[in-house]
Amino acid sequence: QIYTFPDVAALSQGLDTYVAKLSKEAIERHGKFTVAISGGSLPKQLSAVLKHNTSVDFSKWIVYFADERCVPLDHEDSNYLLSKKELFDHVNIPEENIHTIDPDLVNDPEEAAEDYISQLAKTFATKDSVRFPVFDLILLGVGPDGHTCSLFPGHPLLEDHTNWCAHITDSPKPPSSRITLTFPVLNHAHHVAFVAAGAGKQDMLHLLLDGPGHLPAQMVKPVTGTLSWFVDDAAAAKITSA
Ligand code: 6PG
Repeated sequence: QIYTFPDVAALSQGLDTYVAKLSKEAIERHGKFTVAISGGSLPKQLSAVLKHNTSVDFSKWIVYFADERCVPLDHEDSNYLLSKKELFDHVNIPEENIHTIDPDLVNDPEEAAEDYISQLAKTFATKDSVRFPVFDLILLGVGPDGHTCSLFPGHPLLEDHTNWCAHITDSPKPPSSRITLTFPVLNHAHHVAFVAAGAGKQDMLHLLLDGPGHLPAQMVKPVTGTLSWFVDDAAAAKITSA
């Protein structure tokens, strides 16, 4: 499903309606809303309208990061810091419900990914009793090379079909050390939504949505969940199949 909007402001409005609906449904169904958030431009697009939406019960949100850079939480490259400034500082998500990378492990990406798996297990039962976490919603961005999360074209991590979270020390997008959710986790979510805005995304969106291919963003194919795209007209300008 591709939703197009005239501009970023309208896109944020549409995203607000979508996220608020999924949050309500999930809370009614199982008392919580489990969501994974990406970095880049997404936190701002997500929060612009949502942070003012008083009908959303943020106290029931459980937040993870779709990917995170291995930097301290107060570092300007931190996805957590970005989401904190844009969203967490404005709504009442309990601090213990926001799952950050362990700040003591940022110099050891492998350990940081292992720790993140342990954190995921606290929300999604133990690693052995559920095959993969099932997020209510995973929000993704897409890079100019077709990457999503920290899953980059041609990287061995694209073949990781078992781990819940993995580390990468050679990310082409700086900083080089990161942790990321893996494809099986993305593809087991109830709902996955890509968000892309601006003319800079035109060529990549055309490539991803009109053509065949195996770019990371094209490997997001939820097993039973929904896949949506939220794009503005500028980003959608070259899509022919919508
Ligand atoms: C990160 C992101 C990454 C991002 C895309 C798109 O931490 O770098 O999670 O996957 O979503 O690179 O970024 P923009 O929205 O800034 O284009």
